[in-house]
Parts: sequence; structure tokens; C-alpha cells
Amino acid sequence: MDFTKVMHTRQTTRSFQTFKLSQGQVEMMLQAGQNAPISRGRFEDYHITVIKNSEILAAITSAAKQVTGDSDKDPLYGAPAFFVVSVKEPTNPGNIASAAAIIENMHLQATAELLGSCVVMGLIRNGTLAAEGIREKIQIPEGFTPVAGLLAGYPHGYLHERPRTLGKIASNIVD
Ligand SMILES: Cc1cc2nc3c(=O)[nH]c(=O)nc-3n(C[C@H](O)[C@H](O)[C@H](O)COP(=O)(O)O)c2cc1C
Repeated sequence: MDFTKVMHTRQTTRSFQTFKLSQGQVEMMLQAGQNAPISRGRFEDYHITVIKNSEILAAITSAAKQVTGDSDKDPLYGAPAFFVVSVKEPTNPGNIASAAAIIENMHLQATAELLGSCVVMGLIRNGTLAAEGIREKIQIPEGFTPVAGLLAGYPHGYLHERPRTLGKIASNIVD
């Protein structure tokens, strides 16, 4: 898909089919993440975990329900793959900006493959990934803290290109 079309087709998907992603699809998204701009080029300060195991995804959903006390809501929206970006220094704004760049590259790559995807921070903010047993299950390496997540999978229906606009985010041009 043409790059501008990818950008205008990128959107949040919150309902996924159960089909798993192939190894090739996961690797394409990982490659996109690898090509993100990284603060000071310190690639060793980042780690990407891809969780495809359905039992572990179910354990995360169940831990999230316990943490939030909301048993009706599935924060993973039934997605078959959960990409988690972890960093060595979560208080360093450069690390957070770089993690966001990794997530966005993967979000756009998923879109280019006509896959649905959703940035998720709720699970990170509310401590689900640090809950008893979860961190070990998903094998976040020692010394790293998860700071951003992306769900991906086949959407129900199609992703449609959205109108191009200058109106969503205020901007000014200093000429
Ligand atoms: C930093 C960040 C955190 C987000 N966290 C969540 C989340 O926890 N759960 C969720 O459903 N969507 C989350 N989103 C998706 C936003 O709600 C969504 O991008 C926004 O409403 C705009 O919609 P669009 O992506 O379709 O353009 C997050 C997006 C960003 C950039």
C-alpha cells in the first residue's frame, strides 16, 4: 500500500478475529519496529516481546480484570498478538519517545498488511504486566520495564481510508 494511504488508513481496532498471525506477519512488524528512530542510537536499551500464546494472553486478560475490578471488559479485545516494548530507563523521556516510535512503526506496518491494531497503555499504567506471575510468563528481561503495547490481528471487516484533515490537532505554521 502507498505510504500516504497507509497513514490515512491507520486506525484503532478494538475487535479482532481469532485467527493467529503468521510468523512472517510478526517478523514484518518486528522489522518495522527495529527501524524506528531511537534516542542516542542506544538500541540495547530496548526490548520487544511478542505474546502469541493464547493461554498467556488469557492470563493477562484475567490479571487485568482483577487489577481493574472490571470483569466485563477485555483490555486485549480478543487480539491474537500483543507486542510489548520495554526500556531500561522508563523515567527518561527519550526512552519513552523511542518506545512510542517503535510502536507507531509497527502500527503502520500492521495497517499496510490490512491488519487491525491498537496501541494499549492502560495495561501498562494499571500494573497488569507487573502483576503476580505475569512478568515471568511473558519473559520481560531483567532490568527492563514495559512502557508501551500494541495489539494486532485480523479485524472484523475492513480498514477504510479516512478523510485527510488539518483539523484534529491544533497547529500553526511560523513563516
Ligand atoms: C499513548 C496511547 C495510549 C493508548 N492507550 C489505549 C488503551 O489503553 N486502550 C485502547 O483501547 N486504546 C488506546 N489508545 C488508542 C487511542 O484511544 C486512539 O488512538 C485514539 O482514540 C484515536 O483513534 P484512532 O487511533 O482510530 O485514530 C492509545 C493510544 C495512544 C497513542
